[in-house]
Amino acid sequence: MSIAESRGTSAANAPSSAASFDVRPNPSAKTDAERAELVRELAFGKVFTDHMARMQWREGEGWSDRRVEAYGPLQLDPAAAVLHYAQEIFEGLKAYKHADGSVWLFRPEANAERFNRSAVRLALPELPVEDFIGSIEALIATDAAWVPGVEESSLYLRPFMFASEAFLGVRPAHVIDYLLIASPVGPYFAGGIKPVSIWVAQGFHRAGPGGTGAAKCGGNYAASLLPQQQAYANGCQQVLFLDAKDDRFLEELGGMNVFVVRRDGTVETPRLTGTILEGITRDAVMTILEDDNRKVIEKDITLDEVRSGIESGDIVEVFACGTAAVVTPVGRLASPDFDVTINGGEAGDITMGIRQKLTDIQYGRAEDAYGWMRQVL
Ligand code: PLP
Ligand code: COI
Repeated sequence: MSIAESRGTSAANAPSSAASFDVRPNPSAKTDAERAELVRELAFGKVFTDHMARMQWREGEGWSDRRVEAYGPLQLDPAAAVLHYAQEIFEGLKAYKHADGSVWLFRPEANAERFNRSAVRLALPELPVEDFIGSIEALIATDAAWVPGVEESSLYLRPFMFASEAFLGVRPAHVIDYLLIASPVGPYFAGGIKPVSIWVAQGFHRAGPGGTGAAKCGGNYAASLLPQQQAYANGCQQVLFLDAKDDRFLEELGGMNVFVVRRDGTVETPRLTGTILEGITRDAVMTILEDDNRKVIEKDITLDEVRSGIESGDIVEVFACGTAAVVTPVGRLASPDFDVTINGGEAGDITMGIRQKLTDIQYGRAEDAYGWMRQVL
């Protein structure tokens, strides 16, 4: 099921196997004071909770050994296939604390289904949706004290699966580990919700036709790091990739989808070509904008038209979106050939409006008309 198709299913009804996870408490869990100190200034992905959830899959046997145990280093054979051939996938989603102290997930079944689409592409075993959601519920129940409650904070959940079999032959591994770790987080970009600068990758592509661009696998991110380094060197926080075939069309950023807003209020985003990630935030943003009677178009968008549109004033806002980035305004687009400022480098009204509407649902400040939220605590 695609993310758009799953829009009709209520997150509250997705099945869960949480009760089958064997919880082995961490004897060295942080004290309240230690935890408070660690979460005092929340960045992204630097602090981890006391526990992790895990399962293992073996060829011919399937998934077993559902556990929640102390967070800590893994024992991995140096010949583990993932270290050599990168047979690995991951997901990213967040748990949000509401004003009444309850804790909620945003469309977890969509992440579970995308995880399985990624698994198929990487020749990894699919994980039952109830185990994906069950592992999250079991871990959050154990590490409930780690879900932060300050504004713009959440518990970032990182499920991942990798080839742990010790074997150097190139074939799908016969032993696979699934793990889930959790990190209390604040804004992804240091500096908070301020417009970011984007560098257009030159001569590098993230993914090509028939490749793994639509899967959430580590290799895609590895391929993005050298251009990302160039982005930093040019004063930009993220890199924008163009398509590999024509080198003309916008695809996505290293870790987010991208939207442009025209002067007439129309919103456009690159269509799903198989080489970009089908973002769950992207889908939610499109849904909310359409329900606001705004025209939203998924299409091929050339870099040339974006550059000239920004210069002429036809494009008035650009924003990035994703679980980590939420909705982030883009204030500048740069490459060796040009350097343009968008909306005077300020966050635009449509960008900030959609960010507000989305986060109001996620944090329980507005009614969840779409059935996107699932209560876990
Ligand atoms: N594109 C890439 C490459 C990403 O890493 C992400 C983040 O997960 C996204 C898009 C946005 O996806 P989502 O909104 O599901 O987090
Ligand atoms: C996410 O948003 O969950 C991602 O995986 C992207 C990355 C920038 C952390």
